Amino acid sequence: MKKHILLLASLALTACTTGVRRSGGPAYLDLSLSVEERVADALPRLTTEEKVAMTHAQSKFSSPGVPRLGISEIWCTDGPHGIRPEVLWDEWDQAGWTNDSCTAFPALSCLAATWDREMSLLFGQSIGEEARYRKKDILLGPGVNIARTPLCGRNFEYMGEDPYLAGQMVVPYVRGVQENGVAACVKHFAVNNQETRRTATNSVVDDRTLYEIYLPAFKAAVTEGGAWAIMGSYNLYNGQFNCHNKRLLVDILKGEWGFDGVVVSDWGGCRDTDEAIVNGLDLEYGTWTNGLRGAASDSYRNYHLADPYLQRLADGRAGTKELDDKATRILRTIFRTSMSSEPHWGSFNSPEHYETARKIAAAGTVLLKNGGALPLKVPAGGRLVVLGENAVKKMVVGGGSSNLKTKYEITPLEALREAFPDGSVEWERAYVGDISSSYNKVNTGQDLSDPRSPGQLLSDALALAHGADAVVFIGGLNKSANQDNESTDKLDIVLPYGQDELIVALAAEVPSLVVVNISGSPVAMPWADKVDAIVQGWYGGSETGRALADVLTGAVNPSGRLPFTFPISIADSPLKTERQYPGIQVEGEKWWQEYYDEGVFVGYRWYASQGIPVQFPFGHGLSYTSFTYDDARLSKASVSCSGSYGVSEESKNVLSASVRITNTGALDGAEVVQVYIAPPVGGVERPAKELRGFEKITLKAGQSGKVEIDLPRSAFSRFDAEAHRWVVDQGTWTVLIGSSSEDIRCSLPLEIR
Ligand code: BGC
Repeated sequence: MKKHILLLASLALTACTTGVRRSGGPAYLDLSLSVEERVADALPRLTTEEKVAMTHAQSKFSSPGVPRLGISEIWCTDGPHGIRPEVLWDEWDQAGWTNDSCTAFPALSCLAATWDREMSLLFGQSIGEEARYRKKDILLGPGVNIARTPLCGRNFEYMGEDPYLAGQMVVPYVRGVQENGVAACVKHFAVNNQETRRTATNSVVDDRTLYEIYLPAFKAAVTEGGAWAIMGSYNLYNGQFNCHNKRLLVDILKGEWGFDGVVVSDWGGCRDTDEAIVNGLDLEYGTWTNGLRGAASDSYRNYHLADPYLQRLADGRAGTKELDDKATRILRTIFRTSMSSEPHWGSFNSPEHYETARKIAAAGTVLLKNGGALPLKVPAGGRLVVLGENAVKKMVVGGGSSNLKTKYEITPLEALREAFPDGSVEWERAYVGDISSSYNKVNTGQDLSDPRSPGQLLSDALALAHGADAVVFIGGLNKSANQDNESTDKLDIVLPYGQDELIVALAAEVPSLVVVNISGSPVAMPWADKVDAIVQGWYGGSETGRALADVLTGAVNPSGRLPFTFPISIADSPLKTERQYPGIQVEGEKWWQEYYDEGVFVGYRWYASQGIPVQFPFGHGLSYTSFTYDDARLSKASVSCSGSYGVSEESKNVLSASVRITNTGALDGAEVVQVYIAPPVGGVERPAKELRGFEKITLKAGQSGKVEIDLPRSAFSRFDAEAHRWVVDQGTWTVLIGSSSEDIRCSLPLEIR
C-alpha cells in the first residue's frame, strides 16, 4: 500500500501542475475562446491522477471533474425517452427525490414511425431542455440498433429495421439535444441486436453487412449529427468486447468517421484494463460499486480505468499518449456541456413538452387497416365501449433503463372519456395480463388485480359491448420480461394472455371491431381480416392516451408509417437457425457465437427479396384521406457516377426524384412519400429494393404538392469488403416511388454509367 502511495505521489509530481492563474483567470475559463483552445489550456494543468480520475465513474451516473481547478463533474442520465429519476449514489434504488418526475416522451419506435425529421428535432430539443434543467451533461440515448429480429427486447428503444430511416431520424434528435449543451450519447455501438446473453455473445458479421446495415445510423449520428458521445455495447464483435473494441472504436469511429467526442462504456461493459487503455474507451461507467460485474465493498478505485490504470502508468505498461487523448475528449465534453460558453438553462415539465409528447405520439400512430369504423362515430348520448388492459395500464414505468417517473400519464380510457364528454364511455378488462404497477420503486398507484376467470372476463366484455355504437379493443404487449423490455428477448411475436383467441371471439359478436395494438415491436395479427380496423399505437409517454384518442376520433389524421415489417409469423423472419439467433457455443470459443448469416437481408430486404408475404410491410400506414401520385420524374435519366470511393469520402447528390402528390379525399392529411432503389439485374446479389429517401408532405383536402428527394451517390452504393470501398455499379437501375415498401406507385428507369 505504502509503495503504491509513493508511486502515485511521484506521478503527480512529474505531471505539470500549473494551477489557476489568478490575474485575468485561466484561459480555459475564458468563454470567448474556442473549446479547443480551452482544452489545450486545461490539459497541461492536470496531474496524471486527475486525468485518470476523470476516466471513470464516481457514482452510478457521474464521473469526477477537477475540483482543484473548478472543472465540472460529468452527470449522465438515461435516456432515451425522458430524464430518468435520480438513483442513490451507489445503488440502482431510487433516491426518493420529489422533484424528478419528468415529461415522458414517446418511445423511439414511435418517433421513428413519424417518418418526420421535424418531429425528431422537436423531440431532441425538448428532451435536451429537460436534461439541461436537471443539470445532466450526457443523455444516454438515442439508440439506433437495427431491429434485426422482431424478438429483440429493446426494439422499442430503437428506430426500426432500416439503416437509412434510423440514420435520418437520429440526426435531428442529436442536434436538438446538443443545442441545449447536453451531449447525446448514441447507443449501443455496435451489432448489439438482441438482449439474450447480451454480455456474452460475439456477433460474427461480414464487413459488407456491417457497413451497409449496422453502421450507417451511427455514422450519420456522428458525421451529420455531430454527436458528442457514443456508448459502446455489451456484446463482442471480432472476439473483443465492444466497449474497448479496436476495430469499432479506433479504426472506424475515431478513424474513418473522425469522431472527436467521448466513448462511454455501457454500465459494466468495460471488461479489460489493457484493452480499455488502448482501444478507444474514454469513460468507464459501471453497474456495481466496483464498476465490475458484481457488487464489492469498495469502490470506484477498482474500476478498470482507475487504480489498475494508474498502476500501469506507474510501471510503464501504459503511456501518457492514450491518457491525454482520453482527458482531452473528456475536457471537450465538459466545455461543450456544463462549462459551455453559451448559457443553457433548459426547462422541465413545461406545458410545451407535454404538448410535444402528445404531438409526436399522435404523429407516430399508424393506421394499419380501416374498413370504415375509424374515425369513431359515436352520436351524442351514444355508447363507446372500450375493452382491454392496455386501455388503462400505465406503461411509462418499466422496461429497464428507460423506465421513467412522470408527472402524469393519461391512459387511453381517460383520454377517450375526455374526447366524448357527452357520450358514455364504458370499459371492460377482457383479459388480465400484467398486474404489476411498479418498477424500480416507481409506482403508478394502480391496482390491476382482477380475480375473474378468462371465460368470465370475455362474457363480461361481450355483454358490455352488446349494442354499443363503437367498440375499441386496446391490447398488445407491455414491458414485462420477454416482452418490450431490456435484458430479455421475446419468445415469439404471438400476442400474450390469449389475446388472439379473445379478439377472434369479440370479432364474431361485435360488428366493426377496432383493435389497437400497443407495442414497441412487431406482433402477429392472425385475426387481421376479422376486424374492421387496426391501429398500431406505441408506448406514447405521458400523453399516450390523448395522442391515441386524437387519432381514433379523427382530431389528428393519422400519418405514421411502420418502421419495421410486421411478419405473419416469426418463422418467416430471416433468422432461421440457432447460429443466427440467439447464437451457439462453439468449441474452443469462450463466448457464444452469433452468426449474421442472413447478411444484408434484414427486415423488408429479406421479405421482399424472398417473396414472403407479410402482415403489414415496412413503411405501411393509412390515412383518413387518400393521395394520388403522378408526374414522377428524375432530374436526369442517365448519370455518370459509377466506380468506387473511400469510406471517409463525402457522398454528393447526383440527381433528384420528384413526384406530384394530390390529396383526393375530403380531409386534410399528410402522406409519407418513400423512394426505394432497385439494382440492375445481375452482378452482386443485392436486396430487391432499399429505402433511400422519404419526405412527409401535408396537404389540405383537394390540394396538390410536389415532393423532391435528392439521391446522392450513397443511394446507389454497395460496400466492397475486399477493397474496403463503396462501389456504384453501372447498369439500368429503377427508382421506385411509393407509399410503403410494397405499395409502389411509380417506377422510373435510371441509367448509371
Ligand atoms: C443499458 C444502457 C443504459 C445504462 C445505464 C445499461 O444496462 O444497456 O442503455 O443507458 O444501463 O442505465
